[in-house]
Amino acid sequence: MLRSILDKAKKEHNLTKEEIIQLLNSDTSLLFEAANEIREKYKGNSVHLRGLIEFTNICKNNCFYCGLRCENKKIERYRLTEEEILNCVKRAVNAGYKTVVLQGGEDNYFTQEKICKIIKQIKKYDIALTLSIGEKTYEEYKAFKEAGADRYLMRIETTDKNLYEALHPNMSFENRLECIKTIKKLGYETGTGCLVGLPNQTIESLANDILFFKEINADMVGIGPFIPHPQTPLANGNKDNFDLALKVMAITRLILPDINIPATTAMETLKENGRTIALNSGANVVMPNMTDTVYRAKYELYPNKICINDSPDTCINCIKGKILSIGRDIAVSKGFRND
Ligand code: SAM
Ligand code: SF4
Ligand code: FES
Repeated sequence: MLRSILDKAKKEHNLTKEEIIQLLNSDTSLLFEAANEIREKYKGNSVHLRGLIEFTNICKNNCFYCGLRCENKKIERYRLTEEEILNCVKRAVNAGYKTVVLQGGEDNYFTQEKICKIIKQIKKYDIALTLSIGEKTYEEYKAFKEAGADRYLMRIETTDKNLYEALHPNMSFENRLECIKTIKKLGYETGTGCLVGLPNQTIESLANDILFFKEINADMVGIGPFIPHPQTPLANGNKDNFDLALKVMAITRLILPDINIPATTAMETLKENGRTIALNSGANVVMPNMTDTVYRAKYELYPNKICINDSPDTCINCIKGKILSIGRDIAVSKGFRND
């Protein structure tokens, strides 16, 4: 039964909700083998590295799961200067990276004008730029695109509207959806994704998330196992979400065979070698941290985040070693979906 579902997925890259639910409820390494096979067929053996710059931990939002939520008074807040951001970019460029990702909380200090200025500075280098700075207006997304941003990451987090609204005070599911659609319409390579293991999240709802990625034809999908943070309302949530997140990721690879899928930092936080396990289960991207060591512990979305005491150079060498050790190589292109 599972075999026939996997054969269908490998051939047609389509599954019904019921079939996805069966896969999510199963415990078979065949799913990961199938996803790995499809990754190799469509994306090859090269792994794309995206240098992650966590440029501000200041956020006006109050997402129930996130350590950066504005009501967490226990973290020390920071924002990088333009010069510090550009130093991180140079580091990534010198390491041969072809993409940097500018990620942060929704920090109003970084106005449209400031972000556009930073984008233009970054785009002087021959690299692709991804933004992950949350919900903005149509005009802002348009301005960032015109300034040179290539990609935008915005997870839907969950497609269950009631759950979404329960976890995001003063935010609306419709607006989240509208933002993702606007990003797509403006011609960004569009990344989305979900958290896996949130309280009250069902297997059916995860199946809906996977179908949503297919429906909007996402170019990138990042799957994060939810990790409870002690200074949030979800402090007592389930800590054991690695296996389920890996399944969601593998099924996503089967039905969207040519997209970019990162082996996420949260996966490695939950399990030793979580990223290499993910790379062998459908993922083809890693996002090593390029942020200076002094800031890393402060970008605490969840506890025990990896690499917080390491330097960018340590991460550059470490991840390269891990990728080569599993018989993969490092990509030399910018890694657009159709590269
Ligand atoms: N503020 C932007 C946004 O929310 O889209 C970008 C930065 S936000 C920190 C990046 C991602 O971190 C979110 O999309 C969310 O899925 C993830 N995240 C936050 N808290 C988490 C937690 N406790 N466990 C796992 N992932 C988490
Ligand atoms: Fe802010 Fe993003 Fe964290 Fe929500 S997930 S509190 S928007 S940084
Ligand atoms: Fe940072 Fe391994 S990737 S130390």
